[in-house]
Amino acid sequence: MQLRLSIVCAALVLLAAPSYAQPAPVPARLVLLPDTTGPVISRHIYGHFAEHLGRDIYDGFWVGEGSPIPNVRGIRTDIVDALKTVGVPNLRWPGGCFADDYRWKNGIGPKADRPAVPNRWWGHVMEDNAFGTHEFMDLADQLGAEAYIAGNLGSGSVQDMADWAEYLTASDKSPMAELRRQNGREEPWKIPFFGVGNENWGCGGNMNAAYYANEFKRYATFVYRYGRGMKLVAAGPGAGYGGYGTDLEWTETLMREAGWMMGGYSLHYYTVTHNWSQKGSATEFEEADWFLTLKKATWIDSVIVAHSRVMDRYDPEKRVGIFMDEWGTWHDAEPGTPGYALYQQNSLRDALVAAISLNSFNNHADRVRGANLAQTINVLQAMILTEGGRMLKTPTYHAFDLFRPHWDQTLVPSRIEGPTYAFGDDSMPALTASVSRDSVGTSMHVTVSNADPIRAVALRIPLDPNSMYLQAFIVTADRIQEHNTFDEPERISKQSWSQLKREGDDALLTVPPKSVVSLTVINARRSTLRPSSR
Ligand code: AHR
Repeated sequence: MQLRLSIVCAALVLLAAPSYAQPAPVPARLVLLPDTTGPVISRHIYGHFAEHLGRDIYDGFWVGEGSPIPNVRGIRTDIVDALKTVGVPNLRWPGGCFADDYRWKNGIGPKADRPAVPNRWWGHVMEDNAFGTHEFMDLADQLGAEAYIAGNLGSGSVQDMADWAEYLTASDKSPMAELRRQNGREEPWKIPFFGVGNENWGCGGNMNAAYYANEFKRYATFVYRYGRGMKLVAAGPGAGYGGYGTDLEWTETLMREAGWMMGGYSLHYYTVTHNWSQKGSATEFEEADWFLTLKKATWIDSVIVAHSRVMDRYDPEKRVGIFMDEWGTWHDAEPGTPGYALYQQNSLRDALVAAISLNSFNNHADRVRGANLAQTINVLQAMILTEGGRMLKTPTYHAFDLFRPHWDQTLVPSRIEGPTYAFGDDSMPALTASVSRDSVGTSMHVTVSNADPIRAVALRIPLDPNSMYLQAFIVTADRIQEHNTFDEPERISKQSWSQLKREGDDALLTVPPKSVVSLTVINARRSTLRPSSR
């Protein structure tokens, strides 16, 4: 067994891997609590978000059937292929703020008959409705994603939202099901998630919590009647004492008044380095900005904890899942691009934000059942950027790739005993981590982020003595500002990582500075997990 492990490790060393000259790694320890049965990490934590905003849909996912860029029924092939590799469990659409001004009936039927209307939230650019319900469902199908539709509560009507639910999901002879058939789709679609409004404290109607709770119930009553099999997600809070997602009073009111009708509860949390009027550049930044951004990214954990506590009072069984259905970095728009299009580059720093956030969602999988990174293509913390026919995968894309094995696995509660990362007179924990195992205990997956840009960590991870095969991957770079460009799209990508060895029954994993590392342990016999000695 030991021999076999050594051969695997030796083979890994031979694989092409980046080498980074570092000061001696600081020791750290991952403490596993395998006797506690963790919840399942829903794959929907790894969802994405596509809004009619900037170049997310048009000149992003959608190039149209006549485009010279290879496409299937207007949907760009290279994007679909890239996203399928990393996996999209669900895709939220059509907004965002756009959702509460969207007339879904404008986006069905022959394209020539669809009206063009201004996109009033995002630059008043003309929206020709070429991409509507059928095109979105085709996109979801091509991606292998489940659909998360956001309905219009802010400026729509109950009847309109209920009609959309019926159009999407009814199999009977109801008027909307018949209309769908006329438009070429016989079978109803499966829509597991349906948002009843978006940010209704702000762009979705500037409501207070009590008013929205009543509206949610009114809309939900009819959407449930007209629709089939959808989890209805209520819109969560706005800015309270510091940013998105912090108004606990909103959660209190919603849970008390309408919790019984909810299938999910939406929270939004954006990581903004400085403030909303001067957010900071995506690529031109110093270590002070790096530190501040990553520290703020860790606050998403306390937002989840705070809202979960309120939810626990009304829903101790944790029936209502948190859907962190907008999260990610929000930097200044790239110079030369219109501010309303929210186009930003994506650096190693964004990959760290992704890893910090995803580790937090995994660790709170008992309550967090879904999340959607904002937004998939060319907008905010994108997975993919495009320029004409060219595309690149961002560092965030590669970070998501490292987390892929956690989907639908069982969380192994864990904690890190490790160093802090100090900057000036402030500090934060250098590491975040999460751990999962499969249901029969033949594999374990660990993801770790190290925010410290200077110091590597030697992380000791307990293994089952029968562990046979260890494999690690890394996303890192020489500079904190490093990013992929259309001329050099592979400056940062996922690499095999060989600085991993076995010491007794532990794995000793070097986690370099400014990196995200994943470790997979396979045990052909049974459990890979050995309780920590304390
Ligand atoms: O993601 C951009 C915008 O941020 C969304 O439209 C809105 O819901 C949020 O305020």
